[in-house]
Amino acid sequence: VIDIRKLYGQTGMFTFDPGFMSTAACESGITYIDGDKGELLYRGFPIEQLAVNCDFMDICYLILNGDLPNQEQKADFDSQVTHHTMVNEQLHFFLRGFRRDAHPMAVLTGLVGALSAFYHDSTDITNPQHRHISAIRLIAKMPTLVAMAYKYSQGQPFIYPQNDLSYTGNFLRMMFATPCEDYKVNEVVERALDRIFILHADHEQNASTSTVRLCGSSGTNPFAAISAGVACLWGPAHGGANEACLQMLEELQANGGIDKVGEFMEKVKDKNSGVRLMGFGHRVYKNYDPRAKLMQETCKEVLSALGLENDPLFKLAMELERIALSDPYFVQRKLYPNVDFYSGIVQRAIGIPTSLFTAIFALARTVGWIAQWNEMLSDPDYKIGRPRQLFTGSVTRDVPPMDKR
Ligand code: ACO
Repeated sequence: VIDIRKLYGQTGMFTFDPGFMSTAACESGITYIDGDKGELLYRGFPIEQLAVNCDFMDICYLILNGDLPNQEQKADFDSQVTHHTMVNEQLHFFLRGFRRDAHPMAVLTGLVGALSAFYHDSTDITNPQHRHISAIRLIAKMPTLVAMAYKYSQGQPFIYPQNDLSYTGNFLRMMFATPCEDYKVNEVVERALDRIFILHADHEQNASTSTVRLCGSSGTNPFAAISAGVACLWGPAHGGANEACLQMLEELQANGGIDKVGEFMEKVKDKNSGVRLMGFGHRVYKNYDPRAKLMQETCKEVLSALGLENDPLFKLAMELERIALSDPYFVQRKLYPNVDFYSGIVQRAIGIPTSLFTAIFALARTVGWIAQWNEMLSDPDYKIGRPRQLFTGSVTRDVPPMDKR
């Protein structure tokens, strides 16, 4: 806390907290994290129970509405989402403006932002009904957009949504079906991906969610605000860590694998190397991330169901974890695996290319973003977000003439 009279001659106190290490920017009733215990609750329900007993549509309903749906509410919600999965055909032309090798997150940032040009009818943010329709639209269309980005990168035709499939089954079909042959959704794969969606659905005021809130606080439309969230998620310190983590494991595997783990860990601990153990560490969790535990279980299940029990990357990840959890460097800094440490191995096993990992994260986090945005706008006292700064530049001076500069 700084006495701003010394800085600006104004009255009052001023908190300086770069990185928001200890500043709450809002009140929220959606997600609770106890970082010391390694506890995560969505609307009061432990993530361990939700992951086992619910599907992603239950979680979306819960996060948006505050409680789990009964059978009738679930059927109604599923039907609303299912009937908004198509996107305006013009978006295909917008997508075709990208290079085929564009990163899917670049494409997704553009596509999500572009939705605001098509769905003007739900952009009156003062109307709760409009906000609800925007939420349903975004949750429903996200899988279609991610699959479109993937198909485009492969030079394959887009596969349209099929309404009799589950949310996750439909996404898998849009990703992997072709017009030439029948596609049957593999139930193990569907369950694993659904769990990835559940575990990534919300995580209180992380960087991308705070970005959505800040962007949305200006009164901009929800598609613009969520597009800002997608852009923020892309960074390797946040959602981009799953892609970076798998690249790290692949590189390590190609350069000696398990035999070189010790050497690699020395590099990670050397501050001058610039190397971090990706998928490790978290701003809030100072204990094992509960999502990482669930993801590790899913990883084992999927690899065994697909006959990939001996996957070298999984073995490598387990070995890195084993060494890290007994190494004083990691123990003293309370660095544990986070959700991204194992999610890449699951996604790779089910055929999702590494470059799409963060887009899958964005798909799942959309419900959290939109629920947090809606929570902010539902507060009659909400204000535009406007952080202050600690000015360290020049004091007042006169502009010198050109020959004196
Ligand atoms: N590997 C090696 N050292 C690490 C790691 C890591 N993954 N993470 C943190 N550290 C060290 C730092 O060097 C620092 O050491 P020091 O105190 O000696 O300077 C200490 O641990 C604290 O780290 P900070 O970077 O200050 O912690 P912060 O809370 O700012 O960062 C973050 C958290 C960004 C997640 C960090 O742990 C990291 O970069 N992890 C790797 C990337 C990653 O997995 N991100 C995904 C996060 S989860 C998510 O977004 C879904």
